[in-house]
Amino acid sequence: MEALKKQAALKAAEFVKDNMILGLGTGSTTSYFVEEVGRLVKEEGLNIIGVTTSSVTSKQAQELGIPLKDIDDVDEVDLTVDGADEVDPSFNGIKGGGGALLMEKVVATPSKDYIWVVDESKLVDSLGAFKLPVEVVQYGAMQVFKIFEEKGYKPAFREKDGQRFVTDMKNYIIDLDLGRIEDPIALGKELKQMVGVVEHGLFNQMVKKVVVAGQNGVTVLEA
Ligand code: 5RP
Repeated sequence: MEALKKQAALKAAEFVKDNMILGLGTGSTTSYFVEEVGRLVKEEGLNIIGVTTSSVTSKQAQELGIPLKDIDDVDEVDLTVDGADEVDPSFNGIKGGGGALLMEKVVATPSKDYIWVVDESKLVDSLGAFKLPVEVVQYGAMQVFKIFEEKGYKPAFREKDGQRFVTDMKNYIIDLDLGRIEDPIALGKELKQMVGVVEHGLFNQMVKKVVVAGQNGVTVLEA
């Protein structure tokens, strides 16, 4: 599995060009990509500015010597490369397994190009077997939780070390056990208009390319 993740990440790195402002995603697959960007900067002298999507990726990028800027200190992002938890045939996806979905969506949205790196296990016919993360403000989080319960969405607060997990943006995450999402577009709109919801992990038709590594090699799917 790690070998496949690395293959996808290295393929995505072929899209990196000199002088790019590069969105750096979060997760185990993306970390191979960040590692390769570090090598391109150090060994091949590429002039790259990274815009990170989590404190974890910031730390990795800093250790690798990749120059970083805040999303609000760049005019545009040329390319963002990130991982995903599930991808359907219409290029809808679930992200947020690592709890970074809000920053990931903030960086992805203004990106001129947006690539996901996945192993083939992430390709699904329909979304929802992976629990859908929803980022909610701490204040009144239980009110949102109760609405999810009433809707039958089987919510659970994400936890870490026996405490509620707190995101880099200081919010909670509620994971929804939906089983199968019939209409990701409609669900995305429904979640987005709920008071207390900051962002959800449905990334519907945002991605432009999905780099998939499988037993038969690496494929680039274009949306
Ligand atoms: C983090 C994410 C990750 O990109 C996603 O969970 C995939 O991670 P991995 O490559 O470790 O499977 O959305 O919030």
